[in-house]
Amino acid sequence: MNLNLVQFDEREQLRVLDQTQLPNREEYVTLSTADEVADAIRRLKVRGAPLIGICGAMGLYVAFRTLVEKDASDAASKLQSCAHIIANARPTAVNLAWAVNRMLARVAQLSDVGSILSALKAESLLIQQEEESTCEAIGRNGNTLIADGMGILTHCNAGLLATGRYGTALAPIYAARQSGKNIHVYADETRPLLQGARLTAYELTRNGVPTTLICDNMAASVMSQGKVQMVLVGCDRVAANGDTANKIGTLGVAILARHYGIPFYVCGPRSTFDPHCATGQDIVIEQRNPEEIRSAWYAEPMAPQECDIYNPSFDVTPHELITGYIREDGIITM
Ligand code: MRU
Repeated sequence: MNLNLVQFDEREQLRVLDQTQLPNREEYVTLSTADEVADAIRRLKVRGAPLIGICGAMGLYVAFRTLVEKDASDAASKLQSCAHIIANARPTAVNLAWAVNRMLARVAQLSDVGSILSALKAESLLIQQEEESTCEAIGRNGNTLIADGMGILTHCNAGLLATGRYGTALAPIYAARQSGKNIHVYADETRPLLQGARLTAYELTRNGVPTTLICDNMAASVMSQGKVQMVLVGCDRVAANGDTANKIGTLGVAILARHYGIPFYVCGPRSTFDPHCATGQDIVIEQRNPEEIRSAWYAEPMAPQECDIYNPSFDVTPHELITGYIREDGIITM
């Protein structure tokens, strides 16, 4: 499956696959300003920690170019303003701010607008390439833990749709299949936005990986029946002590895995590890619109209008519940 998730088009605008339309439609949207880039990230048209980093970097180049093409004066403050808008689109995944800051650092010593533009473009493409090879290495490392015949449970989507190629949590699964291992994936549907159903089940089945989609509340039952020998999840930010923010529901899966004695691995690039966050308590958790729970997906609301709704997008799994971290530089424990 070869989808161009984020790319420059012939007019040097940003063309992104709108993931909110999957699995039913492969539609692309074009972005040319910082507000459009931030909005696409906020609405999860582009999502997944590494991919929002890539989109933020490429989007910064496009947004800055759009502004200075009209008027090249005051370029430094235009760049800062684009960076601020894009970096703050979503708070939890560190990759977004990490990528934008790396872009700013790359051009910090430059003053000529032409040189800034070429450096921004080159750096954003480098970030995209690096994330690809990083994911391939995560796949290679994770595959060493996978035995023939295993059942593997995953939560949310940490696949190629979240990174560009291979994925993080799904990279070892693709690598295992490629090396001829017979495995079976259990994909949590991942309420409220159904990334497991709409995206993980979509990319795994399209890539020929035997997959069973389950509702989130079925994970315990599937584990109790001995169908799962390993859990692989992605991450949005890993604190210095190993506490890990990932899609809401990950914590519950980790607790279940510990109960059933199933290894629980977090897969992610080093760019998702944040040395500035000491523990999970320092990670800002994005709160999203209650309507995602009340009324998304169905023609009529699924809950009364007056009902209070809590909709955190991520939770934090304490490091004690994590067997290991599968990264591009190896498998580490904390
Ligand atoms: O809200 P989303 O869809 O961006 O959340 C995505 C996740 O939680 C992923 O597991 C995480 O970003 C890792 S993606 C390789």
